[in-house]
Amino acid sequence: MTDRILIIDFGSQVTQLIARRVRESGVYCEIIPFNSVEEHLESFDPKGIIFSGGPASVTGIESPRAPEKVFEMGLPILGICYGEQTMVAQLGGRVENADHREFGRATIDVVEESALFEGLWPAGTTGEQVWMSHGDRVIELPEGFKAVAVSANAPYAAIANEEKRFYAVQFHPEVVHTPRGADLLWNFTHRICGCKGDWTMAAFRETEIAKVRAQVGEGRVICGLSGGVDSSVVAVLLHEAIGDQLTCVFVDTGVMRANEAAEVVSLFRDHYNIPLVHVDAGELFLGKLEGVDDPEKKRKIIGATFIDVFEEEAKKVGGADFLAQGTLYPDVIESVSFTGGPSVTIKSHHNVGGLPERMNMALVEPLRELFKDEVRALGRELGLPEAFVGRHPFPGPGLAIRIPGEVTKEKVAILQKADTIYLDEIRKAGLYDDIWQAFAVLLPVRTVGVMGDERSYEYVCALRAVTSTDGMTADYYHFEHDFLGRTATRIINEVRGINRVVYDITSKPPGTIEWE
Ligand code: XMP
Repeated sequence: MTDRILIIDFGSQVTQLIARRVRESGVYCEIIPFNSVEEHLESFDPKGIIFSGGPASVTGIESPRAPEKVFEMGLPILGICYGEQTMVAQLGGRVENADHREFGRATIDVVEESALFEGLWPAGTTGEQVWMSHGDRVIELPEGFKAVAVSANAPYAAIANEEKRFYAVQFHPEVVHTPRGADLLWNFTHRICGCKGDWTMAAFRETEIAKVRAQVGEGRVICGLSGGVDSSVVAVLLHEAIGDQLTCVFVDTGVMRANEAAEVVSLFRDHYNIPLVHVDAGELFLGKLEGVDDPEKKRKIIGATFIDVFEEEAKKVGGADFLAQGTLYPDVIESVSFTGGPSVTIKSHHNVGGLPERMNMALVEPLRELFKDEVRALGRELGLPEAFVGRHPFPGPGLAIRIPGEVTKEKVAILQKADTIYLDEIRKAGLYDDIWQAFAVLLPVRTVGVMGDERSYEYVCALRAVTSTDGMTADYYHFEHDFLGRTATRIINEVRGINRVVYDITSKPPGTIEWE
């Protein structure tokens, strides 16, 4: 079995980064909230445990704790920030509210050798940059521990009990502002826990294919293809696992990008030979959207219509026992909540809402354990073309939420043309992969212009481009003015219906990425 590391979550905002760093070093890991660890411990069988940071104060009443059992399993443990404090408090040391809270860049000096720092920071190393974020600090070590590093505000910036293989750091090795942090985590998982580092996408592909075969047997599977990365990877992986037992359904909602349908059909049906049902439902969707200008109503109509169409097609395919979905790990991680126990976050747009129950189908979710960048790596491993693997995210309601106000066929056609030109210019400038998402928006505003000798009165097009790592926060992209000028000129010259182009320089927060 692949080596595994268990990450106990105490609610830090960057717990997922610990998991990503560990996985980048070829070690499989999972995040479990502190209050549901016990039930997972036996079956998970980890080679080591990491305690995450968290917002609580160890000195507070009822602050979270690790189950006592984890200290008695003979496994190495690494505590990070809050994880250090709770380890110390639980093992008999003392933690206090510090006079000086410490946030941001700090430096540490290494005072003792430790296996945690082997090959990295020998004793005597000074001024190593790390990222701190803490109010509490350790003031007395539990028995068997020694100080390994100090900082100006933390006399125990790193501590170790080498015999028990318990280690803890006050700083955050998982963030990029601790430049050698990934090496420190590598030391813990590889040197101290003895993980081999053999968790690769090639290995994942093999085990996942075996799992899918075992789950599905001789059954039939239906997969909704959207043209996005996740569903594309699911489709190709399943096809490799079960061949023609898989049927893909692609519903063209009429509010997709220009050529989207043609590209999906050509790749999956023609190139991969995957049985694919292509439903051209544009008229139906646009008919239902007629006269609707409220964004949430648009979303609901598109979602409900999608389910109706999909269900009808699934029935036609007949006898499907399973529905495949591109659910990802961030959608299923139970997050720690200090108000009402752990809660499961599942984004509604990832589910073909209620359909599996209604049609009595079981779910196949081969990407449930993966982060987005790992899905891309798996896509490459499966030989999906780079143009599909590296695609920007595209929302389910599509261009309908990029046309504020009522959506009409005419407006969709105008927006598709502007969007195509914009993305074409971005690709030509070699910027596509630097940007998280880029798209055009058609504003329901007409302004006056002059075209040749004539006065024009046409729509305004807004261009949007953002950088982001997860879509939760985003910065607007800083294009060169020449690029914006060139793109605006092309859109105005080539797209009838648009005579003015503006660029959106709002970041998120306070803005959102989409306009609706
Ligand atoms: P916002 O606009 O909330 O977008 O900053 C964050 C990310 O989510 C996508 N998004 C959606 N995706 N259905 C989807 O499938 C939706 O209704 C939806 N709304 C926003 C958006 O494109 C961005 O990647």
